[in-house]
Order: sequence, then C-alpha cells, then structure tokens
Amino acid sequence: MILINENYPKLPGSYLFSDIAKKVNEFKIAHPDANVIRLGIGDVTRPLPPAVVQALHSAVDEMADSASFRGYGPEQGYDFLVNTIVENDYKARGLDIAADEIFVSDGSKSDTGNIGDILGLDNIVAITDPVYPVYVDTNVMAGRAGEFVDGRWSKLVYLPCTIENDFVPSLPKSKVDIIYLCYPNNPTGTTLTREQLKIWVDYALENKALILFDGAYEAFITEDDVPHSIYEIEGAKEVAIEFRSFSKTAGFTGTRCAYTVVPKAVMGYTKSGEAVSLNKLWNRRHTTKFNGVPYVIQRAAEACYSEEGKKQVKATIDYYLNNAGIIRAGLAEQGLKVYGGVNSPYIWVKTPDKVSSWGFFDYLLNDLHIVGTPGVGFGPSGEGYLRLTAFGTLENTKEAVSRLKKISI
Ligand code: MLT
Repeated sequence: MILINENYPKLPGSYLFSDIAKKVNEFKIAHPDANVIRLGIGDVTRPLPPAVVQALHSAVDEMADSASFRGYGPEQGYDFLVNTIVENDYKARGLDIAADEIFVSDGSKSDTGNIGDILGLDNIVAITDPVYPVYVDTNVMAGRAGEFVDGRWSKLVYLPCTIENDFVPSLPKSKVDIIYLCYPNNPTGTTLTREQLKIWVDYALENKALILFDGAYEAFITEDDVPHSIYEIEGAKEVAIEFRSFSKTAGFTGTRCAYTVVPKAVMGYTKSGEAVSLNKLWNRRHTTKFNGVPYVIQRAAEACYSEEGKKQVKATIDYYLNNAGIIRAGLAEQGLKVYGGVNSPYIWVKTPDKVSSWGFFDYLLNDLHIVGTPGVGFGPSGEGYLRLTAFGTLENTKEAVSRLKKISI
C-alpha cells in the first residue's frame, strides 16, 4: 500500500494564487464582456529588456553550432554569471561574497521552498504575518507547521506586521530557530531600515538561529536607509541565507532565473551540537536534485548587468514604480490608507471600514472588474487589507485608478 505524505492533506484548499485565478476565471465565464484588470498576482507585463533579448538570440545561435553547443552545465551556475553577480550585486556594494557561495537556480519560489530540505524538522519556524504563502505551505509539507487551527498553524510563530507596529515585526517572545524575512516585503510593500534589520541579525547570532532573507524585490529600493542585501549588516554572513531573483527585476517571471547566497560561515547543527556548513549541504542538495539553469537563460541574466542592460532594467523598474505612485495617490484620494509602493511594486491598502479582505476582493472584482489579492490570504494579520500590484501596464493602471474613484462600499 502506498503511503502518502500526510502533511499535504492538511493544507487548506489550493495555493492562494490558484484560488484567485479560479475565482477570476469563473467571473470571466459569467461576464465575458467585462474588461477585467488584473492587479492580483505579481506577474510582470513589460517585455524583456532588449540587451537580454539580444543575449538570448546569440546564445541560441551558439547552441545551434557544434563548436559552441553546451550540454549539462555546472549545477551552481556558469562562472560568467556567478562572477558577474558577485561583482555587481556584492563587490560593488563593498560586500565580500565568494563565487562558491552563489547558487544559480530557476527561481526564489523554488529555493525558498526547497531550502527546508537541509533543515531539521524540529526547528521552530517564525514567519512575519502577513507573509508570502510559499514559506508557510512548504513548512506544512515538510511537517514543521503542526496543525491548522482557527486560521493558524500550531507550531509556527507568527510575527504580526500591521498598522499598529508600522509593519515592523517584533522579536519573538519564545525562542525560534528559523526566521523568514522578505524585504522589501511581499505583500505589504514595506521595508526595514538597516537598524531594524540589525536587530534580527543580532537575535540570530545570539540564538544560533538562521535568517532566510528573501530579497526578490531589491531592485525596487529607492530610499537610502533600506539595505540592498542582508550582508550589509555586520555578522549576517554567519546567520543568513539570501534569495535574489531576476523575475521582478528584469521580467524573468516566465524566463526563470534566480540565485541563492549561502555563505560558508553559516552553520547548522546536529542534535549532538556538531556544526555543519549549510553551504556544503545546499551544494549537495542542489547538485543532486537540480541540473542547472539553461545556458541561454544564464546568458540572458548576465546581460542584465551590461551597461545597456542596467539602464534598460532601471527603466522597467521606474515604469512599475511610476504605476505604484499612481495607485498610491488614487487610493489615498479616496480616503483609503495605503502602504508600500515606494520601495516596492506592492501597494497594501486598508479595506474600507468593516469590510473584510475577501469582501473587498469580491467587491472590486464584481463591481469594478479589478483583481487584487485579499490580505488575509497572506496570513491572519492580513485580514482587513488588500494587495494591489504595480506590475500592470500604465494604461491599465490608470484605468484601474479611475475605476477605484467610484468605490462606494
Ligand atoms: C506574488 O504575487 O506574491 C508573487 O508573484 C508570487 C511569486 O513571485 O511567486
């Protein structure tokens, strides 16, 4: 008899964004003429930068020639991309990250989900609340989350981030071993300053805890006191793994390329207290379960760092940040409380008085034909909020904002 992983049936419903897609599809079937504007899932709409497209074309040509054809590449990524990442994302900021601490992959969703493979099941996991659902669901799948009771997982430690604490999580009251931090934050679009992030690094150093730092939205940072990498904080190289992605930075949501930094100094421990380098474990996992990102895609990612590529990537980011400003201003004009959208493509809006997250989601879909993401889908502290993304086209963003002016709920 085949036994299943009994953690899977504990997961409620389906993945948040699949649930929403289903609701929207049902609405579209019932109202085929409605012009639905999707500001729900954070999927990009701008095309790949021309420098990236050019790099893809020439890499494809290389693959068509037996002299330059490539088969399996190094699972951790080709040197040309890894070294470019080290130079541009770390050395240029005065950060000392070695090439063998970088692992190129197909996405931060996969990596933040898979990292649990090398971590013990008895670890106590803390998540900010609301949170990117992948961190929670993958811990449920692994068996670290306990039971789902009244909208919460019994073994997870929730760190509420709400208007009341300015979306800055407080240190946990009980000891935790793994802490997921995503900054700029998905879903709230808020940030931590260096000083605020240092509190977490110090906590991890004192408690031999591990920070899983998701920096997928780093490219959207506009303010000076917001760290671009957790390694800007002293001591972080001993306690933090950082996830970075080309998805939102350069339009790679469908193209797929990301990387994870696992410094060699980050240690995990056996039950008997022996220190083991997580870099070694992740290398073992990555080379066993992953065969590397395609050569052509890695060349495309490399092109994001050329002079032209950097300018084009910045233009795309500016485009989305302009959308974010339009959404922020439009919602504020309606008297709604808005957060995020300054260092982030996400705008987190407080729902009108006494309206629930799903109530606001349904109203926007049914009456204004706008898709958002209900805040409660990201965790219990997301109740009473809704997330909008700035990843739409400028035209759709403006149209959505003009519809939002008709809000009457
Ligand atoms: C989101 O909407 O939160 C993101 O698109 C999800 C993701 O990057 O997987």
